[in-house]
Amino acid sequence: MSSKRYDGPSFDAVDIIGIKRDKGTLSGEQIRWTIDAYTRGAIAEEQMAALNMAILLNGMNRAEIAQWTAAMIASGDTLDFSGLRNAAGASMPTTDKHSTGGVGDKITLPLAPLVAVFGAAVPQLSGRGLGHTGGTLDKLEAIPGWRANLSNEQMMRQLSEVGAVICAAGAGLAPADKKLYALRDVTGTVEAIPLIASSIMSKKIAEGTGALVLDVKVGSGAFMKSVDMARELAETMVALGKDAGVNTVALLTDMSTPLGLSAGNAIEVQESVEVLAGGGPPDVVELSVKLAQEMLEASGIRGADPAAALKDGRAMDVWRRMIAAQGGDPDVALPVARESEVVYAPADGVLVGLDALSVGVAAWRLGAGRARKEDVVQAGAGVRLHAKPGALVRAGEPLMTLLTDTPEKFDRAKEALADAVTIAPVGSRPASKLIIDRIS
Ligand code: URA
Repeated sequence: MSSKRYDGPSFDAVDIIGIKRDKGTLSGEQIRWTIDAYTRGAIAEEQMAALNMAILLNGMNRAEIAQWTAAMIASGDTLDFSGLRNAAGASMPTTDKHSTGGVGDKITLPLAPLVAVFGAAVPQLSGRGLGHTGGTLDKLEAIPGWRANLSNEQMMRQLSEVGAVICAAGAGLAPADKKLYALRDVTGTVEAIPLIASSIMSKKIAEGTGALVLDVKVGSGAFMKSVDMARELAETMVALGKDAGVNTVALLTDMSTPLGLSAGNAIEVQESVEVLAGGGPPDVVELSVKLAQEMLEASGIRGADPAAALKDGRAMDVWRRMIAAQGGDPDVALPVARESEVVYAPADGVLVGLDALSVGVAAWRLGAGRARKEDVVQAGAGVRLHAKPGALVRAGEPLMTLLTDTPEKFDRAKEALADAVTIAPVGSRPASKLIIDRIS
């Protein structure tokens, strides 16, 4: 572990804000000073908020984004997996995946053990959900006994013995990002491409992975609503990764409709286990296999067949060891919501739209997500889907089941779903495809 403090010249925060307000370019020293001073509390929150808004409105060039990212990495610790060895003493390449966040996106759960089957180490430092997008740690915490917090030594041991670990990022990793993200969240400045790219890549580069596959989501349930914006974000992040020596590729994938047939916590774990058992929804299987192939190729492992490892139980074996190593019982029954309510199809026809954002907000309102960091999530809450776009449906047929422990939440969840469903005459086809593009 290491961290570096900035020891160059000082600047005036108001001058820095003025440069970006007037569409100027910040120097490397100005950026390093800004991030260091903000992390230490020497730049006020309102000054950083003004600077973030100036960046959102006027952008940053590639050199500024690279320097901003490097300064965020230098604000904290970095991990080093270069000495990692498996039980036989052979060195292990590290490879990681990051999704920009979506609804029903449980891919990390089957993916991490699936990739570890082929000898790669997968250090998946993950987060909790905030707002309508779910968090990987919230999902896994539905498994009784499972622990998200590991020391660096425990993480290294598990990587070497099991090959995969999904755990919380320590507080020391990119602390500038933790502060900045919380500020952006309440000042309308999350959706700035330079700030999103530097936020994600500072954490991934500080984590020390050798290869990285980015799953950049596009559509109503994602930060990036258009393919053009998602492509710009992906290109920026791939360039940042490569410049830092991380072999980085990105896929643009659809988030106009939820992934799989569940959005919640325990129900997403259950669906992931179905995928690991060789079944599960086709879109979750397709994306898990594609991302596994990309992660393995990026880490130099050739000729692997991830689809076979899902079918023959090898990925399930790693999953079981990964869950047990963190205190969870892979055979325990998962929590089930106390109450349920069914939403029915309003007409006959083809389901051509099932809006991701609406389903995500409904799951969140049912108790699967949190509005404030300190809120406790309900393990059993969420939305189970009975049909996906492309399906033929009949009026009165069940489309979704809403799940919660607190039935007073049903009305607000149903409000979120008021315009979620689009049914078109028989013969119509939904527009979206799952994997939209690849950027390398
Ligand atoms: N995820 C992050 O980690 N940071 C952002 O800015 C957006 C999504």
